[in-house]
Amino acid sequence: MISDPAESVRAHPAGSVLGVGIAVLDLVNEVEVYPAEDDEVRALALRRVRGGNVTNSLAVLSQLGHPCRWVGTLGDDAAADLILDDLAGHGIEARDAVRVPGGTTPTSSILLSRAGGSRTIVHFRDLPELSAEDFGRVSLAGLARVHFEGRNPQETARMIRRVREEAPEVPISVELEKHRPGIEALLHGPQVLLASRAYAHAVGFEDPDAFLEDLLMHSDARLCVVARGAEGAAFLERGGHVQRVPAYVPTRVVDTLGAGDVFNAGVIHGLLEDLPAAEAVEQAVKLAGLKCGHPGIVTERASPPISDRT
Ligand code: FRU
Repeated sequence: MISDPAESVRAHPAGSVLGVGIAVLDLVNEVEVYPAEDDEVRALALRRVRGGNVTNSLAVLSQLGHPCRWVGTLGDDAAADLILDDLAGHGIEARDAVRVPGGTTPTSSILLSRAGGSRTIVHFRDLPELSAEDFGRVSLAGLARVHFEGRNPQETARMIRRVREEAPEVPISVELEKHRPGIEALLHGPQVLLASRAYAHAVGFEDPDAFLEDLLMHSDARLCVVARGAEGAAFLERGGHVQRVPAYVPTRVVDTLGAGDVFNAGVIHGLLEDLPAAEAVEQAVKLAGLKCGHPGIVTERASPPISDRT
């Protein structure tokens, strides 16, 4: 169990968090060191677990006491069953998930290097994304927030517009992890934008201050945040100035897989708790740092290794 910010766990009668994005089957191979091309190596352990940015974030938010719902697409296979079981185990409601007849659930083949704790992901997907039409069938009643993965921009922009029009009181956050054609369509509507360093680089910025100022200027968000890995995070509120938060470094980095998703959950948790932005980002950095110090996103719920041989 990820600890610390979880100290603030309490019941949230105020409403649930709806996460919109992907769920994935993660095949996580732990290796001693990252292999060279054309090597043949033994894995030290293999985990078959549910992954995917938004569902990872929801798994953390549910650990922190927030009722959560997920909507996205799933294949018509055993991997989808594993994902639904895992979500149910976390108490994440998934009745709006769209199962695509004959579809294959997205799969990530992941190498986790014990030497440095870094992860390398090969992601395979051949499944339609959630459409705005699918999202139109999802109830917006009883929501405290909606969090979108920044993907499938045209459709996601329509989903954001729907929330703005039908539930204007519900705050929206969007994750900007990768730069995708047309992603600018997602900058208007959300109050909170959660960017990765890779996204900042892809749009031409090394300097977090310049990136955040540009993002704020080109959006109508009130809070823009950039996660900077081992350098912590930086954020900018409308009307304020850029503030930096140093990283929280665990004693040993063992697993960085999903650290960005945990960071996003930490910010959303802080905002749900009505914390000032600085405190929300500080606790998000700490939560992500704690996560890097132990394997898995939510260790006690992860599937046990199916093989642990050397
Ligand atoms: C981690 C992660 C994995 C998934 C991949 C999808 O952030 O969500 O769980 O396989 O990224 O891009």
